[in-house]
Amino acid sequence: MFGRPPLLTVRDRLGTVFGGVERYSDSYPLPRLEGSYVSMRRDPRNRSPAGLSRHLVAYARGVGVSSPLYGHLLLAVADDSELLDLAGTARPDQPAGLLLLAAVHYLLLRNEGPMPPIAGFYPDVAGGVVRTGDPVPAFRRFCLERRGEIRALVASRRVQTNEVGRSACLLPAFALASEMARDRPLALVEVGASAGLNLLFDHYAYDYGDGVMRGDAAATVRISCSLLGKAIPPLPEAMPEVASRVGVDLDPVDVREPDARLWQRALIWPEHTTRAENLRHALEIAQETPPPVVGGDALALLPSILDSIPRDAVPCVFHTHAVYQFAPEDRERLYALLVERAAPRDLVLRIGMEPSEAGHSVLTFSIYRHSRAAEQRLADCDYHGAWLAWSADSAGHT
Ligand SMILES: C[S@@+](CC[C@H](N)C(=O)[O-])C[C@H]1O[C@@H](n2cnc3c(N)ncnc32)[C@H](O)[C@@H]1O
Repeated sequence: MFGRPPLLTVRDRLGTVFGGVERYSDSYPLPRLEGSYVSMRRDPRNRSPAGLSRHLVAYARGVGVSSPLYGHLLLAVADDSELLDLAGTARPDQPAGLLLLAAVHYLLLRNEGPMPPIAGFYPDVAGGVVRTGDPVPAFRRFCLERRGEIRALVASRRVQTNEVGRSACLLPAFALASEMARDRPLALVEVGASAGLNLLFDHYAYDYGDGVMRGDAAATVRISCSLLGKAIPPLPEAMPEVASRVGVDLDPVDVREPDARLWQRALIWPEHTTRAENLRHALEIAQETPPPVVGGDALALLPSILDSIPRDAVPCVFHTHAVYQFAPEDRERLYALLVERAAPRDLVLRIGMEPSEAGHSVLTFSIYRHSRAAEQRLADCDYHGAWLAWSADSAGHT
C-alpha cells in the first residue's frame, strides 16, 4: 500500500516505538503527549492585560517565523493598552491576538470604500506591491478608527481556520490507521471540524517533494509539504478507504454562506497566498460535496456518533488545532470518553495534530482496544502542514 517498500507491518512499526511489543496502559489515564497548548490558548486564570501581553509576546515568536507582518503586529498589540483592550474582548477559549488580526484582515478584504493605508502592508490585499516600513502606526490608526466593528467581530467570532494543508500531516497517520484496520474501512469523525475541509482529504493532491504526486493528481487543491529529518513517513500510494465521514463543531462553517467564506479567508495570514488559493478551491469542492458537520459540543455528540458506527468499520477520531481550545478538564473528558466508548470494540483510533509550546504542531496516534489505550508521538509539523518531521522512532522507516 505504501510508496516506500519494504515496510514493517503496522504492528511491527508500533512495536518499534514501544520497544518491540505493543504496550498498552491498562487503565486511564493515558500518557499525555498533547498536554502543551499554552502557546495559543491564554491561561484562563490570567485575564489581565498584562497576562494577555505576555501571552502575545510568546506567541508572536512562533507566528513571526511564518508571517513577519503578524509577528510584528502581535508584538505591537502586546505593548499597547488600547489594542490589548480590543483583543481582550475575545472569549476566554479563543486566541485573542489572532482574532484581532483576523478582524482587521476581514475588514480589509471586505473592502468597502477606499483602501486605508494599512492595506498596503498586506500582500494579499495590496496585490503585488507591498509597502515597506513600519506597519504599526497605520495598523493602530485603523484599529482605533474601526474600533466598534472590530470589537464586535473579536467578541463574537471564533478562530476556526479550516486549514487543508493539515491534511498533508494527517495523510500518513490515516495510512497507518488504515493499515491497522486491516481489511476494514475507516469511519472518520473529526472533532472541531470547522467547515469539514479536512474530511475531504482524499479530494486533494499532495506533493512531499519526492517526485510522486499522491491523492487526486488532477485536484485543484495542491498541497506541498516538505519532509524534514531522516525518518520517512508512511505515504500511501492509494488513498485510505473511508466508509463514512462526519465532523462535529461548536459552530460549523456553512460553506454556502459568502460571509462565512470571507471569514475563513480572513483567517489566512496575509503572506500565505498559496494557502488562500487552496482554501478557495477547497471551499468550491465542499460546496459541491458538503462534508457533514454536526453543530454542538464534541463531548456531548461523540458518544452517539461513535456508537452508531457499524462494526465493519474502524472509528478513527481526529482533531487538528481544535482540542487546544478545550478547557483542560474537557480535554481529559474527551480522552476518557474514547476509552469508555472503545470498551465494546476491538479497535478505535485517534489522530491528533495540535499546537505545542515549541511553536509548531505535534502529530499523535492513539490506539484504543477494548479498555486499553496507548498513545505515541508520530511527528512534529508546521502549524499549517508546510513541513513534517516524522519521528525517527515512530512508525515508518529511516
Ligand atoms: C482552529 S479551528 C480548527 C479547524 C480545523 N480542525 C482545522 O484544523 O482546519 C478549531 C475548531 O474547533 C471547534 N471547537 C472548539 N471546541 C469545540 C468543542 N468542544 N466541540 C466541538 N468543536 C469545538 C471550534 O469551533 C473551531 O471551529
